[in-house]
Amino acid sequence: MQKGKFITVDGVEGAGKSTQINFICQHLKGKGINVILTREPGGTEISEKIRELLLSTDSKMHSDTELLLMFAARNEHIYSKILPTLETGDWVLSDRFTDASYAYQGGGRGLDINRIAQLEKWVVQGFTPDMTLLLDVPVDIGMQRVESRGAKDRIEQENLDFFNRVREAYIARSEQYPQRIKLINASESVDNTSNQIQAILNTL
Ligand code: TMP
Repeated sequence: MQKGKFITVDGVEGAGKSTQINFICQHLKGKGINVILTREPGGTEISEKIRELLLSTDSKMHSDTELLLMFAARNEHIYSKILPTLETGDWVLSDRFTDASYAYQGGGRGLDINRIAQLEKWVVQGFTPDMTLLLDVPVDIGMQRVESRGAKDRIEQENLDFFNRVREAYIARSEQYPQRIKLINASESVDNTSNQIQAILNTL
């Protein structure tokens, strides 16, 4: 039986995930909780190799291939890392999870949501995060932050319309699962965002 808690952080590009994930990690550790930090796509040796394929700008990729690779990486991640860690009682904090497939491949690429749901049923098998923190920022602000970081990966190279669809899909999911997905306004200062997160974490 799962003992530790599984928390995921998601959102459009440039929402400040990395900074807030570090904050969450420190906050939980300060409460005496053992937590490991991981990410999707990635988190295991094989999944990190799949990540390289997914984000490389070397070649184009069919949208279905992209979707399948996201779930292949997720399968490895869940069964060789997330679940075994939760079994020990430690918590797992993941930078992205299945919601990203609905937002990017469903919203962004326009893939059929039913097909994503089929893959979710096959791979994820009803396993859901205890809490998802959705960092929301207007796409133009997020993309300015991405621009300032330098070279873009294959997905970051998409246009504003793509990311607006991604953002809308994320917001729609937070409305569909309000108990699990907590929408956080990440367009103010870093401290403001951290304060909202801390208040929500304290309810866990
Ligand atoms: P990151 O750069 O925030 O770590 O995320 C990697 C990229 O992969 C980001 O552009 C979002 C994308 N992604 C998907 O398109 N679908 C998914 O299921 C996941 C987990 C990530």
